[in-house]
Amino acid sequence: MNTITIKDLDHIDEAAREFMGLMGDDTVFAFYGKMGAGKTTFIKALCKQLGVEEEVNSPTFAIINEYRSETTAELIYHFDFYRIKKLEEVYDLGYEDYFYSGALCFIEWPELVEELLPLDAKKVTITENSDGSRTITI
Ligand SMILES: Nc1ncnc2c1ncn2[C@@H]1O[C@H](COP(=O)(O)OP(=O)(O)OP(=O)(O)O)[C@@H](O)[C@H]1O
Ligand SMILES: [Mg+2]
Repeated sequence: MNTITIKDLDHIDEAAREFMGLMGDDTVFAFYGKMGAGKTTFIKALCKQLGVEEEVNSPTFAIINEYRSETTAELIYHFDFYRIKKLEEVYDLGYEDYFYSGALCFIEWPELVEELLPLDAKKVTITENSDGSRTITI
């Protein structure tokens, strides 16, 4: 297991670069963490480092956002399953087309679709420490 500490928001870009160095060939990353832990903020920083120039926001209402990296021209999918009430909604979305596309998938609230996650999905946890720093484990 690898651990990355984000001291404060001024250090999030370097943390995102460190994370990129650990991504390897994996494509599906499940970000676990309490509300407000910093999942969206970190995914945003990660997308920036991956070459996404458009604005990255939580896809809370759309469930899924699609971005394109300007450096690799690859698509990146960002999911937020917080508002999912039934797995049927996730089936209707065509989740398999994304999870098994080979494109990067960053998932918030993966516990709500746990049984649909690919077996090789990488588990990432974000926790807020008492001093406001964040600890990421991969
Ligand atoms: N590494 C960090 N250092 C300091 N503050 C942070 C950090 N990451 C996030 N925050 C702050 O914490 C708040 C919540 O962050 P964020 O929206 O990313 O959480 P989240 O885990 O996506 O929450 P949710 O479960 O509601 O989607 C924001 O105000 C953000 O600025
Ligand atoms: Mg979020």
